[in-house]
Amino acid sequence: MSKNWTTDNIPNQKGKTFLVTGANSGLGLGTSKVLASKGAKVIMTARSMNKGHQAIAEMKKEVPNADVTLMQLDLADLSNVKQFTARFKAEYSKLDVLINNAGVMMPNERLETKQGFEGQFGTNHLGHFVLTHGLLEVLENIPGSRIVVLSSLVAKMKKADIYWNDLQFEKSYDKMASYAQSKLANMMFAAELNQKLRTKGSSAMCLMAHPGYTATNLQQHMGLQGRIMNALLAQKIDMGILPTLRAATDPDAKGGEYYGPEKMGNWRGYPVLNEPNPVANERKATQKLWSISERLTETTY
Ligand SMILES: NC(=O)c1ccc[n+]([C@@H]2O[C@H](COP(=O)([O-])OP(=O)(O)OC[C@H]3O[C@@H](n4cnc5c(N)ncnc54)[C@H](OP(=O)(O)O)[C@@H]3O)[C@@H](O)[C@H]2O)c1
Repeated sequence: MSKNWTTDNIPNQKGKTFLVTGANSGLGLGTSKVLASKGAKVIMTARSMNKGHQAIAEMKKEVPNADVTLMQLDLADLSNVKQFTARFKAEYSKLDVLINNAGVMMPNERLETKQGFEGQFGTNHLGHFVLTHGLLEVLENIPGSRIVVLSSLVAKMKKADIYWNDLQFEKSYDKMASYAQSKLANMMFAAELNQKLRTKGSSAMCLMAHPGYTATNLQQHMGLQGRIMNALLAQKIDMGILPTLRAATDPDAKGGEYYGPEKMGNWRGYPVLNEPNPVANERKATQKLWSISERLTETTY
């Protein structure tokens, strides 16, 4: 086996159930394919059933025996998220791994979710906040279950901050700052959830991952700049999914860890432990974001 962590390191996953959000495209689809090829049952969610069916048809060409189920989930509508978790629990009593992968990046205009939250914070953070809350019960029915949260390199960049005085970017919209806020919020959520699980003695763990820079549909709002960066700098999806897969399946991975690429300032390479933004370990800040998220979504953990 190579010294780098690759899909060869993934143990057989037969008997385990994974749920992947945003599974119809990019990293979510790539992650689902590998998990299915390792024998896992994969519940793929997509906001568009049509796109989801197309993704499954593509997957079945590579993994003909894939054990996959498609479920509709729109993270930009908290009623839809709550209906989803109710439907899920009516059908399944257990979940081994939840992968909070779906995301939207830097739309040029400020978008709002169904409940009126800024689109990136609302979808990437608040949608997954409510989803995880709804699924925690079935996750905790499996000893050592995992929640894997996708963050990003941008969560450590200059603009990465929680803009406490204008969380919804109502005063002035900055697409980069708002994306960075949402990915930092993902990281702070993951760190705080892991702490809360430890405090209550749960065996469930929450880990984080990021794909470095990987060419996917995510860069669709970046225009020419995105196309040039994708051509020059991006790694392929089969590399970008490795940190998520490692966080989700490596038997030695632990709660609170953050996996990302090793090389070029964590932009590319095989997955290793990365350092999260130190803010993720500031309990005062993570607890403040948690309380605000509970209040905004009317969800109490
Ligand atoms: N690619 C990178 O370089 C990179 C870097 C850092 C972090 N990430 C993170 O990786 C994750 C996956 O992104 P990707 O690169 O694979 O991009 P992608 O190809 O655009 O996939 C994003 C997925 O999220 C889904 N999604 C968007 N809005 C949604 C909503 N309201 N409800 C449910 N699903 C929704 C998309 O569905 P539709 O197809 O319907 O839009 C799609 O399935 C994101 O969290 C992103 O922030 C990516």
